[in-house]
Amino acid sequence: MNLDFTYQNPTTIYFGKNALNNLSSELANYGDTIMLAYGKGAIKKNGLYDQVTAILKDNGKTIVELSGIMANPTYKKVMEGGKLVRENHVDLILAVGGGSVIDCAKAISVSAYCEVDAFTRYWLQFEPIDNKIVPVASILTLAGTGSEMNGGSVITNEEIKIKTGRVFPANVNPKFSILNPEYTFTLPTYQMISGTFDMMSHLMEAYFSGEDDVTSDYLIEGLLNSIIHSAKVAVKNPNDYEVRSNLMWSSTLAMNPIMGLSKTQDWEVHMIEHQLGAYTDCAHGMGLAAISLPYYRYIYQFGLDKFVRFAKNVWGVDETGKTKEVVALEGIDVMERFIKECGIVTNLKELGATEEMLPLIANSTVLLGGYKVLTAEEILNILKIAYEAQ
Ligand code: NZQ
Ligand code: ZN
Repeated sequence: MNLDFTYQNPTTIYFGKNALNNLSSELANYGDTIMLAYGKGAIKKNGLYDQVTAILKDNGKTIVELSGIMANPTYKKVMEGGKLVRENHVDLILAVGGGSVIDCAKAISVSAYCEVDAFTRYWLQFEPIDNKIVPVASILTLAGTGSEMNGGSVITNEEIKIKTGRVFPANVNPKFSILNPEYTFTLPTYQMISGTFDMMSHLMEAYFSGEDDVTSDYLIEGLLNSIIHSAKVAVKNPNDYEVRSNLMWSSTLAMNPIMGLSKTQDWEVHMIEHQLGAYTDCAHGMGLAAISLPYYRYIYQFGLDKFVRFAKNVWGVDETGKTKEVVALEGIDVMERFIKECGIVTNLKELGATEEMLPLIANSTVLLGGYKVLTAEEILNILKIAYEAQ
């Protein structure tokens, strides 16, 4: 492991069927006013809203609601939440939902008391936070992003068509997160498999970087094997607690973000997908899968040994009598078969992209660089392949 690192993670995780029982004791650590932040209604349909509000009321809390947080949350929604926080002197933001709700809660947390434009300051200029941070906690309903145990917050600024994320320092992490895999049973299959590819992508982004021997790479291979196994069962039997619990915990581990320690990490697939999302508003994991296949088929030549290792250790490719190139590409082929078997979308048209959008997405993507820093033209070629994919 050649790169130094500092790691701190202050999030308390309550995991399992009875995890919600811990909410009351946690609430005692915060003031009287709780912002209940949630999405467009899933938690009302599955009963979680009623359960959570009952616990809040039993503990004498005043509830300030922020509803309607959309998938791929917008900066406008963040501003709306910030205003509510200031007006009501909110003591804790309790996010109940998927990554979008939790990301939005963190964004409100750092923006509410920022006296200048927070998007420019914190997401574009990466300035340190020098204003009050409102504590956040989460109750997770969709496994994928890892937002429940990290400082990540991905926000779409619709006015300037930029979707971008930042992993804030650990004091922005949720203070505690409640993870009951049963809450994910009501997810439509589309969202479940989108989240599943998202967690895989977080692992692959960390894996495909650097050339030194890193403990994380061995952990990543193990986690990917667990996810692949669980995903195959979960698409056939969504109510299997064992595989849903494995998926939920794998997604937290994939992005908490231990797996990236001592790795350079370029996150190129995510950077391209975020701009795809800014233009199409597609489900994040689906966008990642559509980009990953042509991207990896292009980039493997610049990180060949790692792609050979990936093919053997994750996808079980037999290397006997084959060149490295053949083994690497076979690994990507097996991944594609898995993607198709799970029903993950790989065509950009199906995700709402038009031909006119492709150069706009390519030109607005900012890359950090890994095995190869792609030019806008190379990104465009990858997008075109994904646009025509079957
Ligand atoms: O709006 P509601 O009604 O809540 O419905 C949501 C939404 O329509 C629904 N859903 C969630 N839990 C459900 C449910 N429906 C039924 N039953 C349940 N139990 O699912 C839909 C999608 O939810 P969303 O929160 O958008 O999905 P996800 O968790 O995949 O989050 C995606 C966002 O997270 C960002 C993405 O870019 C995207 O904006 N990311 C955040 C990261 C982080 N914080 O570290 C890293 C990721 O790479 C990612 O970029
Ligand atoms: Zn992601």
